[in-house]
Amino acid sequence: MKRQFLNLGMQPSANAFLRDDQLSEETLFSLRMGYDSKTSLVSLMEFRDKSSLFHEEYVYISSASRTMRDHFSKAALEFSARFDPKTVLEIGSNDGVFIDNFADRNTVAIEPCENFAEMTRGKGHDTISDFWNMSTAEEVLQRYDTIDLVFAANSLSHIPEIDEAIRSVARVLSDEGIFIVESPSLLNVMKNVAYDQVYDEHAHILSVTALAALFSDSDLEIFDVENIAVHGGSLRVFAQKAGANNGTPNSYDNVASAISEEQSYGLDSYDAYVQFGLDVERSRDELSSLLRSLKAAGNKIVAYGATAKSSVVFNYCEIGPDIIDYISDTTPCKQNKMSPGVHIPVIPPYDGGIPKDVNYAFLGAWNYESEIMEKEQDFVARGGRFITHIPSVRITP
Ligand code: TYD
Repeated sequence: MKRQFLNLGMQPSANAFLRDDQLSEETLFSLRMGYDSKTSLVSLMEFRDKSSLFHEEYVYISSASRTMRDHFSKAALEFSARFDPKTVLEIGSNDGVFIDNFADRNTVAIEPCENFAEMTRGKGHDTISDFWNMSTAEEVLQRYDTIDLVFAANSLSHIPEIDEAIRSVARVLSDEGIFIVESPSLLNVMKNVAYDQVYDEHAHILSVTALAALFSDSDLEIFDVENIAVHGGSLRVFAQKAGANNGTPNSYDNVASAISEEQSYGLDSYDAYVQFGLDVERSRDELSSLLRSLKAAGNKIVAYGATAKSSVVFNYCEIGPDIIDYISDTTPCKQNKMSPGVHIPVIPPYDGGIPKDVNYAFLGAWNYESEIMEKEQDFVARGGRFITHIPSVRITP
C-alpha cells in the first residue's frame, strides 16, 4: 500500500505546452507521491492515463541537447563492445537518438508517440508504435526468436504497470540477453531536493533497491550498476536472467554498494520521505521569496529551458509571467506556446544568447548547467546571473 509523502498541489500535465486556443481546455490534477513499504517503490499516488500523455503530439525530443546526443552514442558504443548484441530493442525510442547507433544490427523501436515512431520507421528501424506490455512483447516474438539487448532510458519509470513491463522484457530476452535501464535516481532526487522530477509522466522514481525486488519477481537479476550524470544524476542498471552467464565480468559488488548507499540514506524507510517533503517545502519558500524580491528590485528575469521540471516548479511555487517574462527553449514544438498551468510564454532562444536587458535567468534545464554556462559566457561576463533551486536555492555563478 502506498503512503503519501509529497503533495505538489494541483498541477497541469508538465509537458502540455499550450497554443492560445487551448488555454481554456487545460485541466489540472492533484500531484502527489507515495512510498510502498513492501516493494520500496516510489510512485505517483494516482497514475494518469498513458494515452493522454504519450501521443502523436508529444513534445519531448531526446536529441534536443548535445549532452544527450553524446551520452547515447557513447552508451551504444560501450554496450556494443561489452555485449555485442545481434538484436537490439529500445523501449521508448523517441527520435532514434540511441538506436540509430545500431544501424548494422537488427533493431526494434517501441514508441507509443506516432510522431516519433514515424521518424525511426523512416530511418529503417523495425518500429512498433505502441506501449510496451505483454502483447507488444508477443508481437516482437512473432518477428524475432529472442532479443539480445533491451534498452529503456527514461521510459521504464513512465509505465504505471511497471511489473508487467519487466515481465514482458523477461519474455523476449535471449538466455544471455541483457536488459539495461537508465532512469533518474531516487537517491539523487532526494539528495538534490529535485522535487521537479515528480510529474505526471514519471509514474515512478526508481532506486536499485526497488528495481532489484521488481526484477526478482520476473526471475531477472541485477549484475551491475553505474551512476551516470544525465538528468541530474541517473542510474544505469544492468540485468539478466537469474544465474545467466552473459560472458562479461559481473559486478555484483557495484550492486551491493548501490543498495547499501540507498539504505544508509533511508530509502527503505518512510521517515526519509517525510524529511524530503519538508525539504521540498523549504526549497519552495526560498525560491519564491528570492524571485519575488529580485523582481521587486526591478530586475528582468527569464527562464532557460521550457522543461517539464520547470512546469512543476513554477506551478508549485506559484511563479507566473508577472515574475518570469518568458522561457526560451530550442524545441520548435514548444515555442510560441504558453507553459502549462501558469502560462508563461515560450519563445525561441535569441541569436547571440540571452539579451542584454536580462538580469537573471532561472535554469529550467538545471541538468544541463555546464552546457548552458558554456553557451552563455557573454551573459555571465556582462554580469548576468543564473538562478537554480538545485541542490539548494542559489544564484550562480
Ligand atoms: P530536459 O531537461 O531533458 O527536460 P524535462 O524536464 O522536460 O525532462 O530538457 C531540456 C529542455 O531544455 C529541452 O526542451 C531543450 C531545452 N534546452 C534549451 O532550450 N537550451 C539548451 O541549451 C539546453 C541544453 C536545453
